[in-house]
Amino acid sequence: MRTSLWGTLCVSGLATLTLVGCGTDVREPDPEEPAARATWYQDVAPIVSKHCMECHQEGGIGPFDLTTYDMAYDNAGRMLAKIESGEMPPFDAREEADCTPRFTWKDDPRLSEAEIDTIRTWIEDGRAEGEVAEVPAPPSIELPNVTQTLKPTVPFTASGDRDQFICYVLDPKLVGGAWLTGMQIRPGNNDVVHHVVLTELMPGAEHDAIVAQRGIGMPWDCSQTTTPGSFVVNIWTPGNQPMQTTQDLAVPILAGAKLVMNIHYHPANRVHEPDATEVDIRTSTSWPRKMYFVGAFGNSFQAPELLADPDDRTAIPEFRIPAGAADHDEHMRITIPALGDLQNVQLYSANPHMHMVGTHISATLERPSARGSDPKTECLANGGWNFDWQRTYIYDTTLDKLPTIQAGDVLDLRCKWNNTMDNPFVQRALADAGLGAPVPINLGEGSLDEMCLEIFGLAVDAPPMPSARTMPTVDQLPMQLMNAMRVPARVD
Ligand code: HEC
Repeated sequence: MRTSLWGTLCVSGLATLTLVGCGTDVREPDPEEPAARATWYQDVAPIVSKHCMECHQEGGIGPFDLTTYDMAYDNAGRMLAKIESGEMPPFDAREEADCTPRFTWKDDPRLSEAEIDTIRTWIEDGRAEGEVAEVPAPPSIELPNVTQTLKPTVPFTASGDRDQFICYVLDPKLVGGAWLTGMQIRPGNNDVVHHVVLTELMPGAEHDAIVAQRGIGMPWDCSQTTTPGSFVVNIWTPGNQPMQTTQDLAVPILAGAKLVMNIHYHPANRVHEPDATEVDIRTSTSWPRKMYFVGAFGNSFQAPELLADPDDRTAIPEFRIPAGAADHDEHMRITIPALGDLQNVQLYSANPHMHMVGTHISATLERPSARGSDPKTECLANGGWNFDWQRTYIYDTTLDKLPTIQAGDVLDLRCKWNNTMDNPFVQRALADAGLGAPVPINLGEGSLDEMCLEIFGLAVDAPPMPSARTMPTVDQLPMQLMNAMRVPARVD
């Protein structure tokens, strides 16, 4: 394989650049040279558009623009390096020898080997421009067909050195109820919003009391309580995509129900710009086959769920990551509790969750025996961990083939941490907390606490469609499941 001299000179940035020139003259086709095997407009731009441009564009979250030939030309070496290392595009689900999920993931943004080869070849052949052509638009990360946007009436200004938990009641004004098929939580101030939990407050005594006491759209401090509401609808963590389902699978929003938004702020001893986090929702009135609920498993803090590890200080297992531990593990085995009368609970998506210091998380389900097409032991989710790139991974299969989960199954959850200064996230967390050296880390909600949690999207059979109503009533919902799925009490 031949490497273009000019290309090599430009990439390696030699002092001779000024003599040979790395500007436009480099791109003049040399009649002596064979045509490039790949060009920007014909081969590379469509790949970069599909995988990179949604973030790497003017005003995007990526640190530089990759939408033009000039920018791609100048950054070609860095681009390929980040793609080859698996860091870009950001996507931390992994296939590893001891844990590879049975299904691939929907909207997996990673490049195929063929696409990576094309970029490599383009660089080897001198990063040719090709014939100017229109570059396809990058895929959108916006929730399509939003039906309304819910906003706080009064924004909240986070400040101080303690984490703050602020709740708002939001009113979707769905008089007859509706089925929710999409939601996008948009933090108003990314510097300070740590995560957002959204619950549904169904009509009833709790609903009336909360609405009377708190009003609609007004911030109040809910640090000392669990989030009001009957069940969790959605959880936003940094980097996460919108929640989206098809018409077949939807969250019931009962007539008159409200949504409660609980925002975890991490002020890090600064007074921040006011935050008004908004929620886009998409609702439909068509009756789905399955209902979607969120269920979180993990954060075990004692035996028998939490197993012993070599860093425990006594024979009693503890969730504790010592200061300076470069490769600390916690291992939990959680027996799935009875989920009411539900026979057919399926896993639609997995959203692993840890805090800053985490490096890896994996979840495996052990069934007493194989069940239908489900194997006895199944890796549900596995991956490296990057706090900035949290994501809900959706199994790329049909509703009928989704993995099932039942009472008595055992969820085996393993998390790893690197609590040393070699971990750039430790440096960041300590700087935020005004500390100079690693400290022991415990289980908790704060940014210098840790978690080991798997937040699953669950699909359960919808009740039969009634003839006269457009929405199920409370008695048609799997309350036992939903009670089990209430926001976990704070653990710190
Ligand atoms: C979801 C948004 C997103 C996508 C998609 C994405 N990037 Fe990035 N990229 C970022 C952000 C944010 C950073 C800076 C923070 C970081 O490095 O994590 C970054 C950093 C980089 C860097 C490192 C810049 C430096 O500081 O050296 C390179 C190179 C890069 N991206 C290339 C790519 C390429 C090539 C693709 C497509 C194959 C891609 N990115 C896709 C958001 C994205």
